[in-house]
Amino acid sequence: MKVLVTGAAGFIGAHCVLRLLRDGHQVLGLDNFNGYYDPALKEARVRWVREQAGDFALERLDLADGVAIDQWFAREQPEAVIHLAAQAGVRYSLENPRAYVDSNLTGFLNILEGCRQYPVRHLIYASSSSVYGANTRTPYSVHEGADHPLSMYAASKKANELMAHSYSHLFAIPCTGLRFFTVYGPWGRPDMSPIQFARAISEGRPLQLFNHGLHLRDFTYIDDIIESLVRLLDRPPQGNPQWAGDAPDPATSLAPWCLYNIGGQRPVALKAYVALLEKHLGRQARVELLPLQPGDVLDTCADAAPLERASGFRPRIALDEGLGRFVAWFRDYYPLPDVETPQNRGASSAAATHKPWRTP
Ligand SMILES: NC(=O)c1ccc[n+]([C@@H]2O[C@H](COP(=O)([O-])OP(=O)(O)OC[C@H]3O[C@@H](n4cnc5c(N)ncnc54)[C@H](O)[C@@H]3O)[C@@H](O)[C@H]2O)c1
Repeated sequence: MKVLVTGAAGFIGAHCVLRLLRDGHQVLGLDNFNGYYDPALKEARVRWVREQAGDFALERLDLADGVAIDQWFAREQPEAVIHLAAQAGVRYSLENPRAYVDSNLTGFLNILEGCRQYPVRHLIYASSSSVYGANTRTPYSVHEGADHPLSMYAASKKANELMAHSYSHLFAIPCTGLRFFTVYGPWGRPDMSPIQFARAISEGRPLQLFNHGLHLRDFTYIDDIIESLVRLLDRPPQGNPQWAGDAPDPATSLAPWCLYNIGGQRPVALKAYVALLEKHLGRQARVELLPLQPGDVLDTCADAAPLERASGFRPRIALDEGLGRFVAWFRDYYPLPDVETPQNRGASSAAATHKPWRTP
């Protein structure tokens, strides 16, 4: 299939492109390489994918640019869309709410419009476990309401689900929304805890554990995310004939629209997660325990049974194994001195920031 992957230079996007290329699809990538985090990492991911699986088309476009996206769809007319581009990050959304409106709301509307004008077999888009917000009953089920987001990031992801439903209902666009649960692995995002913590531990700096490290997080290894995603690509939703408006199921519809959780289903306390990182890095962490941060949800745990029924797959990589693979990549990408001395202290963080994985 000719598949558009938005956010192709991002963490999940790059892994997705690699897998689709290996499966023989024609991949068209879009990304604006914005500076939310070091764009050199995005460039390095693209080089890595090309080295592993050959070249693919990649355009630098901002999804918020409606005219450019319309023209792109008119020209390329993809058969399927995997929409992963977004302004991510919960904490950043407290200070920069407009970035979420531009990329996540306007950007997604432009994708929906493209799929309306040039119909696709399937639109899969990234939602997030953060939509569960103030819900506390775990495991989180897609069949229960999630209407109390705690950040603009979460609100924008919930809005995406609703926008997709209206387009699916009006224009019969088959849409699947995937609520990802804390994804980690090689080529991860530097604003997320695996890289933040691994760097702090490697450099001997204290790392901050919010909510005194008592959060439970349902970590999901990147390969499990990608396996679920590619299995769903060939299975666009049909509409649920049993759906009834007097007892509406939040995860399905009469329209060809559905939602799934993708999560490892084995939540781990942050303290235990730090202990595993210490084991793989061979160094002890200096931990600073802090109170709960505004916008953070307490615990996350996915009920991924509906995903398993639909895809025949359940996430299988345990956190210990996944962190081992992550640390192997981390050591390659962020080659830090083993022992910090007054002479190399400055050099260690400079190397971490500026040394991309194999320069071109
Ligand atoms: N990583 C996780 O744990 C996680 C959890 C839940 C949901 N998600 C969602 O999964 C998707 C992928 O996340 P990720 O971790 O790979 O993030 P990422 O930031 O690494 O990737 C997103 C990519 O989209 C691009 N992008 C952002 N705004 C754009 C715009 N306006 N136009 C074009 N490109 C744009 C960025 O440059 C980036 O390369 C996102 O929608 C995110 O919200 C991720």
